Amino acid sequence: MSDNTKPLTTAAGAPVANNENAVTAGPRGPMLLQDVWFLEKLAHFSREVIPERRMHAKGSGAFGTFRVTQDITRYSRAALFSEVGKETELFARFSTVAGERGAADAERDIRGFALRFYTEEGNWDVVGNNTPVFFHRDPHHFPDLNRAVKRDPRTNLRSAENNWDFWTSLPEALHQITIVMSDRGIPDGYRHMHGFGSHTYSFINESNERFWVKFHFRTQQGIKNLTDAEAAAVVADDRESSQADLFDAIERGDHPKWTFYIQVMPEADAATYRYHPFDLTKVWSKKDYPLIEVGEFELNRNPENYFADVEQAAFTPANLVPGVGASPDRMLQGRLFSYGDAARYRVGVNHHQIPVNQPRGAKNVNTYHRDGQLRVDGNQGAVPGYTPNSYGRWAEQPQFAEPGLALDGAAADRFDYREDDDNYFEQPGNLFRAMTPEEQDALFGNTARAIDGASQATIERHIGHCTQADPAYGEGVRKAIEALQAAK
Ligand code: HEM
Repeated sequence: MSDNTKPLTTAAGAPVANNENAVTAGPRGPMLLQDVWFLEKLAHFSREVIPERRMHAKGSGAFGTFRVTQDITRYSRAALFSEVGKETELFARFSTVAGERGAADAERDIRGFALRFYTEEGNWDVVGNNTPVFFHRDPHHFPDLNRAVKRDPRTNLRSAENNWDFWTSLPEALHQITIVMSDRGIPDGYRHMHGFGSHTYSFINESNERFWVKFHFRTQQGIKNLTDAEAAAVVADDRESSQADLFDAIERGDHPKWTFYIQVMPEADAATYRYHPFDLTKVWSKKDYPLIEVGEFELNRNPENYFADVEQAAFTPANLVPGVGASPDRMLQGRLFSYGDAARYRVGVNHHQIPVNQPRGAKNVNTYHRDGQLRVDGNQGAVPGYTPNSYGRWAEQPQFAEPGLALDGAAADRFDYREDDDNYFEQPGNLFRAMTPEEQDALFGNTARAIDGASQATIERHIGHCTQADPAYGEGVRKAIEALQAAK
């Protein structure tokens, strides 16, 4: 909390004598350039905005605590899982994806679900979503996805045609589209949704065995969603509904909680599993790989300052700790580069020094990084910045090396992912068939309203994909679109 009795100063600490009247030549004359406090005030103001995240720009964050409830040391040697009852500080940021920083919260969209665990072996970030799958399978498509769902270059309006032309040009997107168009497409605030790591990651145990793993975070508040009509009413009245809901709940001591589960696949199973295990458009059946409880986390502290902690937070899937690794999923591999790159652009090369990004739980932080803009931590003082050296300075830690990963391809090439697995429609069909009739109706109506305005060719392509997933899915969407068009 600030001390309101302290005197006003410039950034250099000099007293400010007057903060309401510019220095002018006489009471009605022009201003003088020597009014350095005024110059500083305006110059700082015009530099207050940092670039918004290219996507996930609108978000809310909070600090909390993760606690281990079950022993999973047989799967991972990560220190944060080392004993039941162990607690680790955590920061979470939830977000919408397509909207800009000032967008309304209650929009039909995926929700970001980013977690940072401040472990003693460094920061571990799970930069996930509220859905277990994603639209596409190769990271080349990601910039295009965002241009398609964001604004049209000419009209500066969102375009149903751009959005659905792109989505339907990737048949593998149907699974993700079905989830976004379902009744779960507009969560009623961030507390009432599940989170997923979505990708396959790896766990490595003390015996250096590798397991493939999926992360699930299930809300203890229960799932709550808004219909399109309810969301429209919310947005008309309150554009910050999710921010307010999360912030107010934490302020009143109603700390939201999620249970952390994993699905675990022995390394060798990947070669024979009936679904491509590294395909982000697919889930693993819970019958094949049941959920295993790990722990739970609660969010119990609002940031004291939104910009400092939420806006400057720079998550990256590359923040891994010993015992947790990546997988060959191309999408994840692409993301391992993209987030650090975005952070260096958006927040700066020394973004690790900002408190929310500091590895505050880590026992050791010794890098050879030096210099760069806004280096404010002493820059390692007199310690020479080269390696190898003759002093054993900051020895490598080979005990944390991962086991080698066997590769099945003989050549490095641009392999067409479609030739590997073009089973696009089975899982969305299963999801559709698992819905109640009311949920299916909601899916039809939501799709019709969202695709309204796209060209007939695009609409037909989507109906074609739905039909391949399940004829009743295609027919339901067609009828809902026709009814909407007839009503106009
Ligand atoms: C934000 C890239 C796919 C979840 C971002 C940002 C970039 C990015 C550049 C902005 C980061 C920043 O400015 O700090 C990509 C690329 C992807 C991809 C290249 C695919 C190849 C995904 C997937 C998920 C995801 C599959 C979830 C499973 C998020 C979240 C954020 C984010 C939650 C916001 C993080 C925060 O709260 O600060 N993404 N992304 N992204 N992305 Fe992705």
